[in-house]
Amino acid sequence: MTMRVLVLDSPDAAGASAADVIEAQVRLKPQSVLGLATGSSPIPIYRELVRRHREEGLSFAETTFFLLDEYVGLAADHACSYRHFIQEHFVDHVDVQPSKVNGLDGTASDLDAEALRYEQAMIASGGIDLQLLGLGRNGHIGFNEPGSPLDSQTRVATLTETTRQDNSRFFPPVDPVPVRVLTQGIGSILRARNLLVIATGAAKAQAVAATIEGSISTSVPGSAIRLHPEVTVTLDAQAAAHLRADAIAQDQSSAV
Ligand code: F6R
Repeated sequence: MTMRVLVLDSPDAAGASAADVIEAQVRLKPQSVLGLATGSSPIPIYRELVRRHREEGLSFAETTFFLLDEYVGLAADHACSYRHFIQEHFVDHVDVQPSKVNGLDGTASDLDAEALRYEQAMIASGGIDLQLLGLGRNGHIGFNEPGSPLDSQTRVATLTETTRQDNSRFFPPVDPVPVRVLTQGIGSILRARNLLVIATGAAKAQAVAATIEGSISTSVPGSAIRLHPEVTVTLDAQAAAHLRADAIAQDQSSAV
């Protein structure tokens, strides 16, 4: 198994490095299916992709997108929904076709049916070519919290208190962070042909080390990426601070 671990000086540089991976995928195959993450870590990636679209002609007109997760109870136009996030940070600024952006409907009356519909839609699209992932402080990927089965599929899940506290920064003080979410499962994520993980900042250093160097276990959902043959991890120096030096290969492949 090969995992490329790229350590850059700053979150912006890590974002640009991850944008390189996404750009290479889209230029190689304009009809790619990309899996998108939300949250603060990928913001520099989206900023850079928007810049490359405007200044360098990078086009997403033929690309299809699937979001990773969504809060239960939040409609697509809710300011804190992930659907809204991706509109605001990416879709509104590039030449994406709105009909090619797929998200989970957090207001569906039958959430289990919605999860199944989504899983089937991902498969029917031909499968995700490149899945972008952030990493929670507790090691989660998507909203697969510790304890999530490694073969889990898209489903309703419950957030831990840590994650709700972490994500409260995106919500107005009077609005509670939803307890339930819809998320691609770990098994769904592992079906993607390539994985691209971004983590930045000192608060992620422990989760990064556990993900890359700890044992592969449901207690650190991110560790499941090591079951995948094609993974790139982009980090800033702070997020990489707890890694052993030999786990890190600047701009080259390293066997982990
Ligand atoms: C977001 C997602 C989450 C985040 C993770 C890190 O779609 O699925 O796993 O990637 O919580 O969030 P940030 O980047 O805000 O620290």
